[in-house]
Amino acid sequence: MTIVENNLPSLNDLTSHSKRRGFLFQSSEIYGGIGGCWDYGPLGVELKNNIKESWWKAMTLREDIEGIDASILMNPTVWEASGHVESFHDPMVDCKKCKSRFRADKVDLNKACPVCGEKNSYTEARNFNLMFKTQVGPMEDTSSIAYLRPETAQGIFVNFLNVQSTMRKKIPFGIAQIGKAFRNEITPGNFIFRLREFEQMEMQYFLKPGTQLEAFEEWKKIRLDWHKENGIRPEKLRYHVHEKLAHYADHAVDIEFEFPAGWDEMEGIHSRTDFDLRRHQEFSKKNLQYVDQLDNNNKYTAFVVETSVGLDRTILAVMCDAYRVENPGDKESERVVMRFKKKLAPIKAAILPLMKKPELEEIAMKLFKDVQLFCRAEYDTSGSIGKRYRRQDEIGTPYCITIDYDTLTDHAATVRDRDSMKQERISLDKLSLYLKDNLL
Ligand code: GAP
Repeated sequence: MTIVENNLPSLNDLTSHSKRRGFLFQSSEIYGGIGGCWDYGPLGVELKNNIKESWWKAMTLREDIEGIDASILMNPTVWEASGHVESFHDPMVDCKKCKSRFRADKVDLNKACPVCGEKNSYTEARNFNLMFKTQVGPMEDTSSIAYLRPETAQGIFVNFLNVQSTMRKKIPFGIAQIGKAFRNEITPGNFIFRLREFEQMEMQYFLKPGTQLEAFEEWKKIRLDWHKENGIRPEKLRYHVHEKLAHYADHAVDIEFEFPAGWDEMEGIHSRTDFDLRRHQEFSKKNLQYVDQLDNNNKYTAFVVETSVGLDRTILAVMCDAYRVENPGDKESERVVMRFKKKLAPIKAAILPLMKKPELEEIAMKLFKDVQLFCRAEYDTSGSIGKRYRRQDEIGTPYCITIDYDTLTDHAATVRDRDSMKQERISLDKLSLYLKDNLL
């Protein structure tokens, strides 16, 4: 068996595979779509939920981290305090001829417009705020302006004291959150890499001043390990240390993945000093200081190390890494297989009666119902068994279980492993245990 190990699929291959197999659809496709927005289909949402669960467990099954779910709309002063109103900009240029719009830092301003070919066609660069503005309530005046949050982090900062006091947390401790964020990106694209509506999984870890560097180093390692535990090949992951730091940060590193378009950011780990809590204190005029009972009731504004990973980018990386074409060009044996880590696979087992015969279907349906009690399974009766195996390979199902005529006498089924394609006969009464042992 020749396995094409090292190659990543092209984004086109992955986009069409995702659509064909029900992972992702263009948002509002029947109306021509809308830039920077995608819908997760039946298999995509399972994969997404499995990745969320993997992150949520990694973050909250610890004694020092609590979760929250803050609202998307917040008091607009939050975004003044955070600096987003003043400086969450990208520089933008337009082509004077075809009016196409580009991020000034992403096009070569000395070259012709990539859309219409016009030379020397760009306007002066001007700043474009990436926050979506909306109105809250029936009055459309300046007092009703609100923003769709461009990051989930601020919902955590403004709840720092609520969580600390209600959960009786002692520093160091963290707050974790998964939720939607919105950015009016000038040039969304590369499938689900750069979106206007996306999801973040963020954790803010609150620290005593002076301890942030140690925590930063610890979180760098924890977060890289998490990506590896999700099955991403280590050689496709690397750190990128920021040399130019944002004004509030004293250390920053990205975890990058080698996407089909090249190495790029999947997660940011930032040591944000006490900037955010200090600014919220200033703007809200509320005391957000922490009283350290373990240190003579010393009061201080907590420092923060943040880990911020894009859920959609993680899904893209997991899908790129899992997608393999095996034995390409060989009509008999070529197959596309999504080698998802088993815990992330959208469907864990497929139950396949060999023929549409009542005596086989009865056993298969009972097994399907048993398996569905503890993991997501699929029941499929249509097409040849070979075709059904291929379809399950393409969606990354770890196990196919075939009920055949021998089952009627030996009370066993054939279990086929997705990766090795090896088949073994397992007795029906041991199947659930077998799956639990191998999947969970
Ligand atoms: N609170 C810090 C923060 O938001 P960021 O580097 O701007 O930091 C964190 O974003 C992560 O969110 C990124 O590493 C990326 O995975 C994801 N992300 C940011 N903008 C995105 C977009 N337009 N589309 C998809 N994911 C995005």
